[in-house]
Amino acid sequence: MSSAPANTPHHVAIIMDGNGRWAQQRGLPRIEGHRRGVETVRAIIDAARELGIHTLTLYAFSAENWKRPPDEVGALMGLLEYFLKKETATLIKNQIRLRTIGRTHELPPGVRAELERTVAATAHFTGSTLVLALNYGARTEVIDAARAYAAAVAAGKEKLNDDSWATFSRYLYTSDLSDPDLVIRTSGETRVSNFLLMQAAYAEFVFTPVLWPDFTRADLAAAVTAYAQRERRFGQTSAQINPASTPR
Ligand code: FPP
Repeated sequence: MSSAPANTPHHVAIIMDGNGRWAQQRGLPRIEGHRRGVETVRAIIDAARELGIHTLTLYAFSAENWKRPPDEVGALMGLLEYFLKKETATLIKNQIRLRTIGRTHELPPGVRAELERTVAATAHFTGSTLVLALNYGARTEVIDAARAYAAAVAAGKEKLNDDSWATFSRYLYTSDLSDPDLVIRTSGETRVSNFLLMQAAYAEFVFTPVLWPDFTRADLAAAVTAYAQRERRFGQTSAQINPASTPR
């Protein structure tokens, strides 16, 4: 981890898109694309660790994905359960902590049970974190945070006139996570799709045409290299960020 280059993104978040098209291009049912997508998930968790990325967030199921055909939703839930059953040992071996963001209490009981088991078994690891966004939507996250914040104000634990982001952001699902530095979306789509809208306020974005089942370690490394060449200014000027390079 510590041997990663200084400008390696600490937190990379990925919108894994294109499973359906990957399958359709091969005349296969969409679920085959998701199955291949799970293989990519496993490879990319490994690759992220090797590249020195501390936190990897994967958009695995959005709050809007329930609108898909029931058999596809069922298959995705089955794949999640299968992934958790199969991968827990590897996560433990590689000392990766699993976290979730989203309304996970609305997931099927089988998936919830596997999630709870894996989260508990990996909770003590501090080296890397895998975050699965499950039944996640940024708008529902803001609603949940606003509700929790209002309850805290009513209980006298927060002050209504405290307008600091540092305070409010403690009520987001990501309260114990750093903001993503780099957000990647595969499959050529250039949308954010209700993903980490608050946390990605200053993130760099990389959009790649590669469909998720074809996304490789080399593609992740290329996105990390592109990130490393960007200048992040957080609202400041280039000269403020790099005083040494200011023309006299
Ligand atoms: C988008 O492709 C992908 C999803 C909605 C689900 C992503 C899920 C996986 C990769 C597998 C399960 C995840 C884990 C962590 C085990 P799409 O179906 O929208 O593709 P399309 O736009 O080409 O139709």
